[in-house]
Amino acid sequence: MTDNHIYVIFGASGDLTKRKLVPALYALFVEGLLPEKFALLGASRSSISDEDFRDRMKTAISEFKEIDDSSKIGEFVHKLHYTSVDFKDEAAFANFKQKLGALREEKEIGGNTVFYLSTPPSLYGVIPTHLASVGLNNEEDGWKRMIIEKPFGYDLDSALALKDKLLKSWNEEQLYRIDHYLGKETVQNLLVTRFSNGTFEPLWNRNYIHHVEITAAESIGIEKRGGYYDKSGALRDMVQNHLLQVAGITAMEPPSSLEPSAIRNEILKVFQSIRPMKKEDVKTHVIRGQYTTASANGEKLQGYRNEEGVGPNSITETYVALKFHIDNFRWGGVPFYIRTGKRLPTRVTEVVIHFKRTPHFLFSQGSMGNTCNQLVIRIQPDEGVMMKFGMKAPGSGFEVENVNMDFHYSELIDKRIPSAYERLIHDSMKGDTTLFARTEEVLEAWKFLSPVIESWKNDEDIPVYGYPAGSWGPLAADELIEDKAMTWRYPCKNLSNDGTHCEL
Ligand code: BG6
Repeated sequence: MTDNHIYVIFGASGDLTKRKLVPALYALFVEGLLPEKFALLGASRSSISDEDFRDRMKTAISEFKEIDDSSKIGEFVHKLHYTSVDFKDEAAFANFKQKLGALREEKEIGGNTVFYLSTPPSLYGVIPTHLASVGLNNEEDGWKRMIIEKPFGYDLDSALALKDKLLKSWNEEQLYRIDHYLGKETVQNLLVTRFSNGTFEPLWNRNYIHHVEITAAESIGIEKRGGYYDKSGALRDMVQNHLLQVAGITAMEPPSSLEPSAIRNEILKVFQSIRPMKKEDVKTHVIRGQYTTASANGEKLQGYRNEEGVGPNSITETYVALKFHIDNFRWGGVPFYIRTGKRLPTRVTEVVIHFKRTPHFLFSQGSMGNTCNQLVIRIQPDEGVMMKFGMKAPGSGFEVENVNMDFHYSELIDKRIPSAYERLIHDSMKGDTTLFARTEEVLEAWKFLSPVIESWKNDEDIPVYGYPAGSWGPLAADELIEDKAMTWRYPCKNLSNDGTHCEL
């Protein structure tokens, strides 16, 4: 059971609060995982009443359903409260402190508090400083934790400045940098697949693995987020955080225990071992693209530059593919390939371990072609794990067919998979930092990407390839793959009926 506490959400009128945070908190309530005494205090600029806030959240919980049981919504929303705060005004935090204090007294909840920053990133330094100015970082009357959404900084310098600002009034142990990919059940399953099976770990190294491929494809465009996305781009939005974290878990050494610091130290070591990219290599190691107007499945999809909030000459990338090496004993010589993009043909996130070929191939290859054994860890959707291997095709001769051995999470029918936010919010209540990124990890990730950010900004010779919306991105990305007999995995042979996702 978690300690009694108040959960404060700054940015309570925003999209994330209604789509993810409050539905996840409701699911925790239904599952009986909230403490006996609990209150949620939403804070935003707009001035609305507690009742209005509850009504909005009621609608949100029904619309962005996390859990089937809706019978407890009425009971849950009684725990919700609201206060309006001008976040930029330090003086407003004295009022905020009073409101929080009154709520604590009324509900007889001690001083334990989680503060969740679901605000524009420009406020990530401001709100914690203002909270500290009224003593709300002080843990004498109970723990205080600060959850910070991504992006943590815009580049290495701004991330360092933000770190310094936060650490003036908060301790590293109080800061929870959320990366919702780490909350995904299947990302955590990477740890279990690797470290609970005697079969995989002995093979998980340069002797048997040819290369590692990590894909996060999205079929949606940028929705209504042009204002944010055009300043960010795919590198900052997906690679710096989510995909490098997934790479970290894929490549880490076995931790000595499941203690948060044991796991996080190993991920950090991976980041510290990534070979720094030279500026002159950016052009050949990183491919950027932007989707252009096209028709897919009979529907016209508009190009990125026509999206709301995007300039007509924008060169922001909506697609990135990159190659890197991890210079350590386990991974020496094994290329890692990462790609992500908006408006690709489907939504799929997966890690593919490509094993080396046998030293000598005795048989005719049949459907196996040039592929070799692959272990596919499907993060979403249709979460699962699949092993591809060669079998004898029935009949005369020795023709080898590629067959799959697969497991789908959906087969565990009696188990509900909690959402990433549900898992991470619950961890933050318990004080478990295992699945949150540490400052050094975030800084290492920025350090690795700095030459890319710099070169893209300054070197006009580096192209932004256009790719038709609904396609797999720029063809130039194929050139990244060192072994010319190999390609990226295009996992879409069996598209679902509605065309939104493909089977494992
Ligand atoms: C967010 C990005 O962090 O992750 C979005 O800002 C992206 O642009 C989203 O769409 C992807 O998350 P998921 O869980 O749908 O893979």
